[in-house]
Amino acid sequence: MCPVPSEPQRIIENPVVAVVGATGGLGWAISRELARRGARLVLTGRDPAALRERSEELPGSASAVLDLHDPDAGDRLVAAATAAFGRLDVLVNAAGIVAFGPLADTPDVVIEELFLTNVIGPLWLLRRCLPLLQASQGTVVHLSAVVAEQPLPGMAAYSATKAALSAADAALARELRRAGIRVLDVRPPHTNTGLHERPLHGSVPRLAKGLDPEMVARTIADALAEPKRLQLAAADFAAEAPDRVASERITPERGTSPSGQSTQGVSHE
Ligand SMILES: NC(=O)c1ccc[n+]([C@@H]2O[C@H](COP(=O)([O-])OP(=O)(O)OC[C@H]3O[C@@H](n4cnc5c(N)ncnc54)[C@H](OP(=O)(O)O)[C@@H]3O)[C@@H](O)[C@H]2O)c1
Repeated sequence: MCPVPSEPQRIIENPVVAVVGATGGLGWAISRELARRGARLVLTGRDPAALRERSEELPGSASAVLDLHDPDAGDRLVAAATAAFGRLDVLVNAAGIVAFGPLADTPDVVIEELFLTNVIGPLWLLRRCLPLLQASQGTVVHLSAVVAEQPLPGMAAYSATKAALSAADAALARELRRAGIRVLDVRPPHTNTGLHERPLHGSVPRLAKGLDPEMVARTIADALAEPKRLQLAAADFAAEAPDRVASERITPERGTSPSGQSTQGVSHE
């Protein structure tokens, strides 16, 4: 990629936004919120029927079936965005999986799949989208999670994937700045999408009330409109749901930090 001088990002009218994981709770809420604000969408998911349904609900959107386990998934996304709109301004990666339980009980294959889906796949995909994002001086949004900031027992591998993605984002924010690409690392607390009810492995820990996905989507859309913002930390969502986030203090075993100090968020994913 040929570096270009960095410039303040422009806010583009009707940007072309690809949402990876648009069939999921957060991906779908983000897709609808951005469509409401005028974005032209490229929706992706693994299930063709679910994706068709979503696309029909957002007329004018394009779609691409892809699995993050496929190293070439990004090529399909680039082809779909180029064919439909000739550009890509924003890549939102809202795909991901979770697993619970002590590491000792977690099968190797679960750890491997968590990293493949939550870290490796997103980086494979982003690599292939970089030329389009450079051409548009665009933005990539990665959904990490609060556990990147506050890792939790019983969620070691999941926390590690989210911390890894967040670390990659911090490095990429600097690495890609000269190419004019912004990287926005989003770390929401537990949100009511049902993700925790379908873990790859383990059983659901005690969870406090989650955030409303629509509110999380609005907060992300607002952050996208702030050209200089590179992060939405868990605390940034507190402004929207102060009671719930402030009340999420946790107790030992159900969720303490390794030091034994209470942390915010046994319920965080
Ligand atoms: N919900 C929360 O409490 C919370 C909090 C913080 C961060 N997050 C993060 O936010 C992201 C979205 O979570 P969510 O709550 O919206 O979960 P969700 O409702 O379960 O949606 C997950 C999405 O990821 C897609 N996906 C899973 N594996 C994939 C793969 N191998 N390739 C491509 N797509 C794949 C799913 O596609 P299919 O429909 O094909 O399965 C679905 O669209 C995740 O990264 C999650 O870790 C969630």
